[in-house]
Amino acid sequence: MESDKREFVGNRLLRLDRVDSTNRLAAELAVDLANNGLAIWAEEQTAGRGRMGRTWQSPPACGVWLSVLLFPPESLRRPALMTVLAAVAVCETIYACTQLQTKIKWPNDILLQGRKVCGILVEQGRGTVIGIGLNVNTPAEAFAAAHLEQAGSLAMFTAAPLDRAQIVRTLLGHLDRDYAELLAGRAEDLESRWRWHSGLLGRQVVVLANEGPVRGRLVEMNFASVVLQDAEGALHAWPPEAVVTLLPAAD
Ligand code: BTN
Repeated sequence: MESDKREFVGNRLLRLDRVDSTNRLAAELAVDLANNGLAIWAEEQTAGRGRMGRTWQSPPACGVWLSVLLFPPESLRRPALMTVLAAVAVCETIYACTQLQTKIKWPNDILLQGRKVCGILVEQGRGTVIGIGLNVNTPAEAFAAAHLEQAGSLAMFTAAPLDRAQIVRTLLGHLDRDYAELLAGRAEDLESRWRWHSGLLGRQVVVLANEGPVRGRLVEMNFASVVLQDAEGALHAWPPEAVVTLLPAAD
């Protein structure tokens, strides 16, 4: 177990060679409130979990397979909001370590030049587990072999392999700072960076929520609501939790 100076997120970092799933282990450790802030980073996952029951390929020494366990106050027990916290931290970590710009694809993917390099899985039980799977040094051939043509890794776009430990430290630092801001009741800065990294405000988009697809201009996106204005000028608003997909509209 390594200790670090982070106050909330990653105040302790447990490094493992191999585990079935860091999210599963973090959820198990939620029996003890003293594990608030614990981060678990595994070299390899044998049963990495993705969204919608999918598996997440987590080969050894290629990526950052990381989970953080938190016990947030009631106002922050919102997986949608914790997903934003993680997505913004990942984009800004990638930029800090590579100077490459990424985009958040609603709700939980991080794209680099159109390829998914990171997925986020937030699971809410006794605690909140934020799971981050970031493909760092995975060779391009591994995605082709797994028929994951839309997936990619950071190293596919950099001249040399990247230092994963540095990425973990940077990522935990970003998560810690932004979580502290949220705990202090300050969400505006994170909301604004979320809008920026999503790159859709003011553009024509399609929202899929509980009803059929709605097309319009995205006029607001914050932790309370996502608001579209359709061609007739009518406004449509949903809480972020109700938005299944939010995509740029095809012209
Ligand atoms: C997705 O489907 O896009 C989400 C993938 C999340 C994968 C990460 S890897 C670390 C953590 N542990 C898991 O079992 N899953 C998440």
